[in-house]
Amino acid sequence: MNQDKLIKTAQAMVTGNKGLIAMDESNPTCNKRFAALDIPQTPKMRLLYREMLITTPGLNEGINAAILYDETVRQKLSDGTPFVKAVKNAGIIPGIKLDMGAKDMAGFPEEKITEGLDGLRERLAEYSEMGLRFAKWRAVITIDDGVPTRRGIVNNAIILAQYAALCQEAGLVPIVEPEVLMDGKHDLKRCFSVTEHVLHTVFDQLYKQRVLTEGIILKPNMVLPGSNCQDQSNTEEIAHATVKCLMRTVPASVPGIAFLSGGQTSQQASERLNAMNANYKSEMPWALTFSFSRALQYPAMDIWNGKEENSKRAQKALHHRAICNRLACSGEYSEILEKSISSANERDLEFL
Ligand code: G3H
Repeated sequence: MNQDKLIKTAQAMVTGNKGLIAMDESNPTCNKRFAALDIPQTPKMRLLYREMLITTPGLNEGINAAILYDETVRQKLSDGTPFVKAVKNAGIIPGIKLDMGAKDMAGFPEEKITEGLDGLRERLAEYSEMGLRFAKWRAVITIDDGVPTRRGIVNNAIILAQYAALCQEAGLVPIVEPEVLMDGKHDLKRCFSVTEHVLHTVFDQLYKQRVLTEGIILKPNMVLPGSNCQDQSNTEEIAHATVKCLMRTVPASVPGIAFLSGGQTSQQASERLNAMNANYKSEMPWALTFSFSRALQYPAMDIWNGKEENSKRAQKALHHRAICNRLACSGEYSEILEKSISSANERDLEFL
């Protein structure tokens, strides 16, 4: 294992108050989002959409790295440039989603287990050859009466650790993503205790599997009340609970923590990330950044709507979110800046 290479890549993914764009939705997930907007669900449209995203002018002002899907890394842009090369040309580090999705866990019908370990060493060799430098694996944990169980948490953590070790063996930085879902009626306190338990278990298994913690990125959920909880908590409470939970569980050797957005609105995700960095940056040993899919992409996808003539406006919207989140990583994001950057973008559009 080339430890130096792994450490340098991991640091480069989270440096400079910049983050990641997750554009690695599986075909069924991408199709579902397209269907909601009446966009045709074809390989060509998925390519055109992702081409629009990655060719956004100045995207690397807020984004260090992009997580891609298997279909995308085999596609070419309209001008013939291979997609992975286009990502590099944009000054962005390309990576790949490796898991094959969360399936029902046998014997535990209310819980999920993520599949994809079979043949992973061979898939990693191919992706490494293609120039991909990091990978992602998502485990899904649901909160409800009686779940998650200890068994569900441990099984998912063991698989995350095996995936991470295989990635490091192949020279790719593993993004370790144990997502505690925000669906449900549970409160902030319950999300805190489940997330704490999950992260403790994940780092225990990473240690047992001899994973180099300096060469990973953690991609967790923020600690949030369930989406159907009566008490939705305020930004400061969420920021405090999330940082407290991470400080208890994540080793200082981990270079960066990049949150998923999990169904938060774009502005909520930016506001909460900002509050964590504004209030606690000097106490945190790791970079605290973002690896959003929906909270970065949704405004752009709504504008694009499958039409080439909307591409420039959609790219402005994506660039806007990337800059808002960069500001959130330094604790400088505010509602005023959210609006002023937005109206500056509108003015720019007049000259397009
Ligand atoms: O694995 C999940 C995605 O990479 C993050 O998606 O930001 O929409 O939760 P999200």
